[in-house]
Amino acid sequence: ASSSAAAGDADAPSQPNHRIKISIVGAGNVGMAIAQTILTQDLADEIALVDAKPEKLRGEMLDLQHAAAFLPRVRIVSGTYYAVTAGSDLAIVTAGARQLPGETRLDLLHRNVALFRTVVPPLAQHSPDALLLVVSNPVDVLTYVAWKLSGFPPNRLSGFPPNRVIGSGTNLDSSRFRSLLADHLEVNAQDVQAYMVGEHGDSSVALWSSISIGGVPMLSSLRESDVEFEQAVLERIRKAVVGSAYEVIRLKGYTSWAIGYSVASLARSLLRNQHRIHPISLLASGFHGIPDDREVFLSLPAVLGRSGVIRIPSVQLTEEEGKRLRKSAQTLWEIQQQLGL
Ligand code: NAI
Ligand code: 2OP
Repeated sequence: ASSSAAAGDADAPSQPNHRIKISIVGAGNVGMAIAQTILTQDLADEIALVDAKPEKLRGEMLDLQHAAAFLPRVRIVSGTYYAVTAGSDLAIVTAGARQLPGETRLDLLHRNVALFRTVVPPLAQHSPDALLLVVSNPVDVLTYVAWKLSGFPPNRLSGFPPNRVIGSGTNLDSSRFRSLLADHLEVNAQDVQAYMVGEHGDSSVALWSSISIGGVPMLSSLRESDVEFEQAVLERIRKAVVGSAYEVIRLKGYTSWAIGYSVASLARSLLRNQHRIHPISLLASGFHGIPDDREVFLSLPAVLGRSGVIRIPSVQLTEEEGKRLRKSAQTLWEIQQQLGL
């Protein structure tokens, strides 16, 4: 490992001079977009990068360190081994295969499950109190896998508590949804409250019934306005959200900037104990008719803070939205059955 100047001992999170450490496994397009957004937003005192390719990793670390004159004082370290991540408050996993143009996220499953078997146990062992945030795809199934594997180190009997294991989930899809709705309605996306829930990917569910614009429920306000409002328009927007990653991958080969901002927003809510509500992938058993004994991770809006998922507020779903969510859960559960975990 190598570092910039500001070294220091990590204290317990409750101590006032505790230094926030974030580890990022996978220094590819996504890992580096997350690192750079976290740096510019001053969310960490120390960032540890891990990757399997030592030269690329050291190059990325040095390149970030060389920006020190323009950034808050942050210690940046890297290594191909997990000791470098020890004592992390937040461990973010972005390592793994990504989609080739035309591939689905689920096509990555077996390659990335095998990789997670080598990544998650040592990560959990070196930071047993960390929040674990999964970004690699297929993110929902891999969050389940990470939860299961977080109990594998020999000195632990059980995995991390589920409130400390989350996936970036549909925080990104919801941002895409809000941005497309904002374009259609000609308002600022920050004034659009809207959620995509369920699987991050092809079976994600748009919650039309709970959209509000500047605090005003959208469906009722649209009925009173001149803005085009038809089922076909809503369906076109939903399809555009689901298709948007495919379009970006076809055009530039991968997606990175939006997921970088999405994960930084999660890091802020978690580490700064913001109690903000984000749709993220969490253990959803028992919610919206998903059976209690089905251990499925998918996205629902959740209150996030320093201990991870603090609360899952009840969201009203229409019958159709609930049906689609349960179908998404069923798809993910069937996939998990093939993994033998
Ligand atoms: P990339 O190929 O640029 O980076 C992946 C990195 O993982 C590489 O640097 C590689 O060396 C590293 N790696 C591979 N095996 C490793 C191991 N055993 N230990 C440590 N590092 C290892 O890919 P990119 O574009 O960064 O995507 C990464 C993942 O993030 C993919 O699975 C992609 O589908 C996913 N993704 C998820 C999003 C989401 O919303 N959840 C958004 C965008 C991408
Ligand atoms: C995204 O939605 C590919 O999952 C990735 O950008």
